[in-house]
Amino acid sequence: MATLAAHDPIPTHWKEGVPSDDELAHIPGEGGWPLVGNTLKMLKDPHAFTRRMVETYGRVYKSKAFGGWNIGLIGADANELVLFDRNKNFSSEQGWGPVLDQLFPRGLMLLDFDHHRADRRALSIAFKPGPMRHYSGSLNRGIAKKVEDWGEGKMQFYPAIKTLTLDLAADSFIGIEWGPEADKINTAFIDMVQASVAPVRKPLPFTQMKRGVDGRAFLVDFFTAETQRRRAEGGGQDMFSQFATAEYEDGSLMPVDEVVDHMNFLMMAAHDTITSSATSLIWLLAKHPDWQDKLRQEIESVTGGVGSDGKPRDLAYEDMGKLELSEMAFKEALRMVPPVPSTPRRALREFEFGGYRIPAGSHVGINANFVHHEEEHWDNPFSFDPMHFTSEKVKARHKYAWVPFGGGAHMCLGLHFAYMQVKILLAQLLPRYEITLEQEPDWQPWPIPKPKDGLKISLKKL
Ligand code: HEM
Repeated sequence: MATLAAHDPIPTHWKEGVPSDDELAHIPGEGGWPLVGNTLKMLKDPHAFTRRMVETYGRVYKSKAFGGWNIGLIGADANELVLFDRNKNFSSEQGWGPVLDQLFPRGLMLLDFDHHRADRRALSIAFKPGPMRHYSGSLNRGIAKKVEDWGEGKMQFYPAIKTLTLDLAADSFIGIEWGPEADKINTAFIDMVQASVAPVRKPLPFTQMKRGVDGRAFLVDFFTAETQRRRAEGGGQDMFSQFATAEYEDGSLMPVDEVVDHMNFLMMAAHDTITSSATSLIWLLAKHPDWQDKLRQEIESVTGGVGSDGKPRDLAYEDMGKLELSEMAFKEALRMVPPVPSTPRRALREFEFGGYRIPAGSHVGINANFVHHEEEHWDNPFSFDPMHFTSEKVKARHKYAWVPFGGGAHMCLGLHFAYMQVKILLAQLLPRYEITLEQEPDWQPWPIPKPKDGLKISLKKL
């Protein structure tokens, strides 16, 4: 295998220039079983696996999984090194490539440095106050309707919020009404997302990968035609219309195929992450009725609670920032169950960390969940306590001890959208219902955390 020294050109593709076993011999760790390495152990319980590796080998270790060596870099300092990436050592494109390249090529997380900066800047227009105010209107409408439909009684929260999040995306992301067209798009999209983590990576007949590749073809056609139409006729204020007309610094429009790739990627980046984090928040609130009361009071003082028509009032875009405790509770849910469990990168040049020299070409990864539960940064790290996020505590803590949205150049572009959707959800749910947990869920941790039983809760009218 090719050997890369510090002065060699950077690897241009994630399959090339992987360091040999000899070049990694000085890094402690284990290869696991023949062929599968540690893949099965990691999938079964990734958090226990990381804990054992750190206890056995320290905060820099190697492990073989998914067909190659990965170097774990664990801790808040490691998060800062990799995410902030002062020296431009790490490629996100080549880190995420093995997972996402086939179905979500050229999305923002699959671009690096200058190309990434130019596209991110152009797309940021969709997250400015004007468009955000527009999305908040459609979120308020859509969430109010669905929460009313949920009604009193027992429900499985996870599938309900997953469907709601898809429907909301049809409206605020694509600007189409709920109905058969939105359902077709949603199905194609779900097929793609499931295929991105399917074990069979070739689109053979009847496999999930084949369904994903077909879903991608359908969405590429749809978004291509729509980009051209919205450019010609002018679009609405939805996110996709913003992307379709996004301009680079020199005033030129983005090529149509790039708009399409960014849109596909964005829907993927938004969907399961919001679903997972809204679910963990509702789970934690169901277990902590005292916090439901606190957030309900806060919401009622900001929105006025239930109106004369018996329905909770909308949460105005201007009032989002006033729901401070609600935001702290959401941050705490993101701490306890971070939706994106891994942040893969590829080292483009040799670097040092924790006393080890890591060769160029290495696949490296940090671990949010581990750092989110370290006593060094959090009192009672396994207890739900939104007061972990008072401004004094945040100021005193390592900046990279809480990284559910990543950090640095690739920090989540949609994080304010996520806060907004979750706050509007709370503003509709809590003034109307008391939430109780029917059954403690068992969480499936990978690829994005979800309760295996769908989270059984019950809603009781107040
Ligand atoms: C609670 C919900 C969410 C969580 C926890 C989350 C988490 C993340 C994380 C960890 C990254 C960085 C990954 C890396 O550096 O390798 C990321 C990137 C990204 N997210 Fe989110 N995300 C959420 C919601 C959203 C939403 C709602 C959108 C869009 C509306 C979105 C769009 C993106 C995009 C476009 C990127 C790529 C940014 C770049 O590479 O420059 N995310 N997200």
